[in-house]
Amino acid sequence: MNQRQLFLDHVGQTSEAPLCLNIVKAEGTKMWDADGKEYIDLIAGISVCNIGHRHPAVIDAIKKQLDDYLHIMVYGELVENPQVAYAKMLTDHLPSSLNSVFYTASGSEATEGAMKLAKRFTNRTQIISFKNSYHGSTQGALSIMGSEYWQQAFRPLLPGIVQLNYNNFEELENITEQTACVVAETVQAEAGVNVPLNDWLKALRKRCTETGTLLVLDEIQCGFGRNGSLWAFEQFDVVPDILLLGKALGGGMPLGAFVADKKTMNSLTHDPVLGHINTFGGHPVSCAAGLAAFKVLLQEKMIDEVKNKEKLFRSLLSHPLIKNVNSFGLMIAVEFSDFETNKKIIDALIEQGIFTDWFLFASNSLRIVPPLNIPDADISIACKKIVDVLNAFLV
Ligand SMILES: Cc1ncc(COP(=O)(O)O)c(C=O)c1O
Repeated sequence: MNQRQLFLDHVGQTSEAPLCLNIVKAEGTKMWDADGKEYIDLIAGISVCNIGHRHPAVIDAIKKQLDDYLHIMVYGELVENPQVAYAKMLTDHLPSSLNSVFYTASGSEATEGAMKLAKRFTNRTQIISFKNSYHGSTQGALSIMGSEYWQQAFRPLLPGIVQLNYNNFEELENITEQTACVVAETVQAEAGVNVPLNDWLKALRKRCTETGTLLVLDEIQCGFGRNGSLWAFEQFDVVPDILLLGKALGGGMPLGAFVADKKTMNSLTHDPVLGHINTFGGHPVSCAAGLAAFKVLLQEKMIDEVKNKEKLFRSLLSHPLIKNVNSFGLMIAVEFSDFETNKKIIDALIEQGIFTDWFLFASNSLRIVPPLNIPDADISIACKKIVDVLNAFLV
C-alpha cells in the first residue's frame, strides 16, 4: 500500500480533501516531494518557519541539546537552561512589563493559560474577543473564536464570552469592570490580514486600562518579524498586559508561551497552587531551537527587509482577476471573487511548484506568508507563476 493510502487510513484527518503531498525534504524556502518535485514554500508552515526550513544554527542547537537531555520533568519544577536562556532573551526584547514567560506546548494552550490567568488575576469571568479572530482549536480558545460556523457543532462552550467587531470604536464601551480580559490578534491573520485602524488599538488599550481589564494580544501568527517589526504591537504604540506567542517561537519545534508581568503571572502559583500546569511546555529541545532561531532572526537582520519584500510582492501581483491585496509585512492575502476560484488557483499553483493555501475566515483569499528571508528571485518566480496561472484562467 502506498504512503498516501496509509496516511488516509491511519492518520487522523482534518478534512475530506487533504492535500496529500508527500514532502520528504525542506531547506530554506524550498520543499521537495517524494518524486523529487521542488516547491517554493509561500506559507512557511503557516507562519512557523520565519527564518526558513532547517537553518543550520537551529539544527546545530537541536543536536547540542540532544547530547545533554530531552524531557526530564514536567514543566516548572526544574531549572532547565534552554528555558531560562530563551526567557531571558525574549524578555530582553520586550517592554519591561512583559518580563515573565510561561511556556506551553502550543499556541492554543497559550490562549487557554492566558484566559485562566486573567480570570484568576482579576477575579472576573467575562472574556471579550472579536469576530473573525482565531486563537486556537481547544475548547477555551474555540469559545472565543470569532466564527459561529466553527463553534456551533461544539456548543455548549464557555459561558461569559462577548464578541465585538474588530476596529469598531463604539463597541469598546462593552468592556466594563466585569471584563477579565480582552483577547485580540494584533493583526487578524485568518480574517485575510485585517490590520487595526490607526488609533483603534490605542483606544482598546485605554478602555482596558480604565476598567482594570487585562489586554491580551495574540501574536502567535503575527509575531517574530512577520509584519516588519519584531512584535506587531510596536507599530501601534501599545503594550499588552499578556502577550501570546507560538508558531515561530519554537524555530520549527512545538512551543507556545504567554508572557506577562511577574506580579500578574505569580497569581498562578497559589489559590490554587499549580494554577496552570503541563508536561511538555518549554520542552528543552524546542527552547534550544527557538532561541537559536530568534538569534538568527535578529543577527541576520531579516526583519529589516520585510517591508521591501512586501513591496516587491505587491508590485508583481497585479491582474484583472485579483480583486484586492491585503498585506502587512510578509502577511499577504490575495483576494479573488470566491472560494471556488481561489481553490482552483491554489491547486494549479501547487501543480506548478508553488505551495500556498487559503485563510480560515477569508476562503476567497490566497495565503502568502513565506519565510522572511525568501530571496527576491523566488518572489519573482512565484509571482510570475501566479500571474501565468491567472492568465490561463482568462482564456
Ligand atoms: C493567531 C493564532 N492564535 C492561536 C493559534 C493556535 O496555535 P496552535 O495551532 O499552535 O494551537 C493560531 C494558529 O494558527 C493562530 O494563528
